[in-house]
Amino acid sequence: MSPSDKSETRLGRILVSEAELRARIQDLGQVIARDYAKEGETERPILVGVLQGAFLFMADLIRTIPMDVSTDFISLASYGAGTSPSGVVRLQSDLSVSIERRPVLIVEDIIDTGLTMSYLKRTLTARHPRSLRVCVLLDKIERRQIDLDLDYIGFTIPNVFVVGYGMDWNGRYRNLPYIAALEETKAR
Ligand code: IMP
Ligand code: MG
Repeated sequence: MSPSDKSETRLGRILVSEAELRARIQDLGQVIARDYAKEGETERPILVGVLQGAFLFMADLIRTIPMDVSTDFISLASYGAGTSPSGVVRLQSDLSVSIERRPVLIVEDIIDTGLTMSYLKRTLTARHPRSLRVCVLLDKIERRQIDLDLDYIGFTIPNVFVVGYGMDWNGRYRNLPYIAALEETKAR
């Protein structure tokens, strides 16, 4: 649950530091490249970043993957975001290329209830990719409402609202180079 628009907030403790992000993302890039190479995948994988939250993670992740990849972006809007997730997700801006018969890796910032990712996987599966995997930086597993297969997970975090490294609260804090908890000081 995120603090409401009217809340007064302050940055709390750092959950994931810059050094921890760098080290973990380096490992993820190596594992991802190894997995695709192991399968003898000849088609170039396409990494699909989910806007806006995943843009920093995507930028850093692709530089750690020592193989030829393509990138594209998709943007989703979730109704009722902010207070309680409604589970109703809408495609705000679509991919610019076809993913048919391509190995696709979704790159996402955080999975909370899982409703957004579940919608996205269903939507992309219907387009017949050769394979569809998910790489997520943060997994807030305690809040999951739906069963999801995640292929690559950066960090599992407790049920706190986080900001930084691409993630926002009311459009703020995306530019922090680390991930911090956002604390509610007072609801107005
Ligand atoms: P879900 O559909 O509940 O899994 O929510 C997924 C989306 O909600 C993510 O893609 C984020 O955009 C947003 N979100 C969930 N938790 C947080 C958080 O702690 N900080 C910032 N955004 C979050
Ligand atoms: Mg997101």
